[in-house]
Amino acid sequence: MTTTDDLGPTGRPQVEFPEPAPLESHGPARVISMCNQKGGVGKTTSTINLGASLAEYGRKVLLVDLDPQGALSAGLGVNANELDVTIYNLLMERGLDVHDVIEETATPNLDVLPANIDLSAAEVQLVGEVAREQALSRVLRPVLDEYDVILIDCQPSLGLLTVNALTASHGVIIPLECEFFALRGVALLVETIEKVQDRLNPRLDIDGILATMFDGRTLHSREVVARVVQAFGEKVFHTVINRTVKFPDATVAAVPINDYASTHAGAEAYRQLARELIANGGAA
Ligand SMILES: Nc1ncnc2c1ncn2[C@@H]1O[C@H](COP(=O)(O)OP(=O)(O)O)[C@@H](O)[C@H]1O
Ligand SMILES: [Mg+2]
Repeated sequence: MTTTDDLGPTGRPQVEFPEPAPLESHGPARVISMCNQKGGVGKTTSTINLGASLAEYGRKVLLVDLDPQGALSAGLGVNANELDVTIYNLLMERGLDVHDVIEETATPNLDVLPANIDLSAAEVQLVGEVAREQALSRVLRPVLDEYDVILIDCQPSLGLLTVNALTASHGVIIPLECEFFALRGVALLVETIEKVQDRLNPRLDIDGILATMFDGRTLHSREVVARVVQAFGEKVFHTVINRTVKFPDATVAAVPINDYASTHAGAEAYRQLARELIANGGAA
């Protein structure tokens, strides 16, 4: 890790993170939830593109769609509406093999556990189950040794599915859109994370806050990031994701930006996030 005198977008000295060494063997996975109960902050986009960058660095990556909207699955070219079994069935039924539900994507080293609208029933149905908060941990247990990183794309709520994600995770990444109300609701999210730490999963850590949709030309974006750094200090990733139409364009093409526009600054930003996460010990 080298630091320069230039200030980065977070107002702190710019840091460069080294290219990670290739892995000799794979697993056990570190599980990370992408979490923010606000919609449209970049959870799904960050799950896809951080996942693709980690995969590019030779990490074996599983992306878990835990949003009934299925945007993660669609963004990776999986038509989850045509599937007979999805993560919903794994959560609610016994005797299914998770391997039979996992789909390979067009990107090497990158697999997905798809979801569709069926999952919207799980929130209510799980309430009556024994160990209802541990259903996702149970689903993921058989594949932990096969992956280096598992990223869970949470739905925009703090309900039981999100609690399941936090219970199954080692870390949380909180994407925040660089908008005026970015910090609204974050206190409640942190409170939920602390409750899960207390009652269900003491190993859970906040890996970092990720500023997304940053526009360096506006004072407003820079002010929002400054406020986020003031509130969370070193928990804020040095990597900041710029606002660019290449992200929605890549989603329409149903591929990660690494495949859609490999040399674009947006692709480079998620590669940097992957390097920063690995340098911090947030991934192997
Ligand atoms: N850095 C970015 N620049 C421009 N648009 C973005 C960026 N990140 C995400 N988007 C777009 O914003 C919308 C919401 O992003 P998404 O990742 O789906 O958020 P969430 O999963 O939190 O609801 C999507 O249309 C997505 O393509
Ligand atoms: Mg989403």
